[in-house]
Amino acid sequence: MDTFVIKGGRRLRGRVRVNGAKNACLSQMAAALLTDEPVTLRDVPDLRDTRNMVTLLESLGCQVQAADDFHQHKISVTDPSQSVAHYNIVRTMRASICVLGPLLAKRGKARVSMPGGCNIGDRPVDLHLRGLRALGANITLHEGYIVAEAPAGGRLQGAGVFLGGAYGSTVLGTSNVMSAAVLAQGTTVIESAACEPEVADLAKMLNAMGARITGAGSPRITVQGVESLHGTDHTVIPDRIEAGTYIMAAAVTNGDIVLENCPTDALTAVLDHLGHIGVEVDSATGQEPGGSASEPGADDPMRRSVRVGSCRRLNPIQVVTQPHPGFPTDLQAQIMALLSLADGNSIITEKIFPDRFLHVPELARMGADMIRNGPSVLVSGVRQLVGAPVMASDLRASAGLVLAGLAAQGTTIINRVYHLDRGYERMEKTLQGLGADIERVNVST
Ligand code: EPU
Repeated sequence: MDTFVIKGGRRLRGRVRVNGAKNACLSQMAAALLTDEPVTLRDVPDLRDTRNMVTLLESLGCQVQAADDFHQHKISVTDPSQSVAHYNIVRTMRASICVLGPLLAKRGKARVSMPGGCNIGDRPVDLHLRGLRALGANITLHEGYIVAEAPAGGRLQGAGVFLGGAYGSTVLGTSNVMSAAVLAQGTTVIESAACEPEVADLAKMLNAMGARITGAGSPRITVQGVESLHGTDHTVIPDRIEAGTYIMAAAVTNGDIVLENCPTDALTAVLDHLGHIGVEVDSATGQEPGGSASEPGADDPMRRSVRVGSCRRLNPIQVVTQPHPGFPTDLQAQIMALLSLADGNSIITEKIFPDRFLHVPELARMGADMIRNGPSVLVSGVRQLVGAPVMASDLRASAGLVLAGLAAQGTTIINRVYHLDRGYERMEKTLQGLGADIERVNVST
């Protein structure tokens, strides 16, 4: 099992390019099931989750050809008779649920192992099922599997679908219902749709395949069903969570870095919060550390080059995680690590996954001063964190611990970094490139 050994205290300096977005890419890979023609995806991040999705698609009769160091995929359906997403794959990745809508729409049936809970909470899929039932699907649960069938005739029916739940809308649920509705007969209107950029990018890809979707990125999405879709060549948007993580890594080490391919348009709430904390994120001008001029396309607000710097004194703030365009839950652990070094008391409230706090006791082991009360954590800034052995518990919690380790005095050992490999492409290499003292070490169990 791999661990990270981090010797903290180095200021990060240099340039880094943001990879394609994991959470956009996974549902886009699944959407390749909707057509008989090949789909090419570019800027696919090389992650455990994307590799798991390749395995799942292969088990569903797809041929996946990877090129460009795994970053480009050509996905072709060669055997459309398969419609079962087995437990042994789904248990490795909850996002496997995003094949449900495409399979049901294109193959008229699907058996998908019911994803269980995970370290960040219960994570039900009732809204996915409610949405697909509204399109006429007959759905039952049998021996741990979701068994779904399209109505007689094999085609789903357009309908009004409400996807609001107790914690807001659902990102993958919206993607699932939208992907199913593209081949339905008639018009579907999804109300209380998730507004995340990953949903909008999926809609962009589906429209390029011949779908007729409007409103994606807003709470009301309208889908006019079409008979069939064709192939496409799509470049995945950059990962806003990876970008936010490296921005905060620079901030917590008082560093000075340039981030290329940064989706600032998808990070408005994050940049606003960082501004209040005292972290400066400005357009890069070409005079940055190790840099030449900004890359072409710098005016695209989803692909900017930005320079990150911070003053030594970090201000405390209040953070509430919310659905997009609010502050993302996927950056909650990272901003907690940053605020643990702020000059005063901050309050962080988690409104999406109220139990997503497994990093709190681990940060406390490094000297952070925190009190959790239900979905909120009071973070009282300390002058210095101190390195310690800590346990990574989920993907983003692990990223928070890495940030704390980069800032801490002494050595931090992060166990179970396989969680990080699910969502960050070779994070230790990226951080080494920015001057961090971080090593991946294989420890036999
Ligand atoms: N929810 C329900 N019923 C449902 C679906 C969701 O009650 O049927 C609840 C959830 O329990 C949660 C809230 O609704 O309280 C939002 O969950 P959502 O469905 O939006 O989460 P998701 O689509 O399963 C995606 C990302 C997560 C990210 C969340 C929220 C992917 C593969 N995953 O999950 O990413 O935290 O949206 O933004 O897109 C990560 O990358 O580390 C990660 C966990």
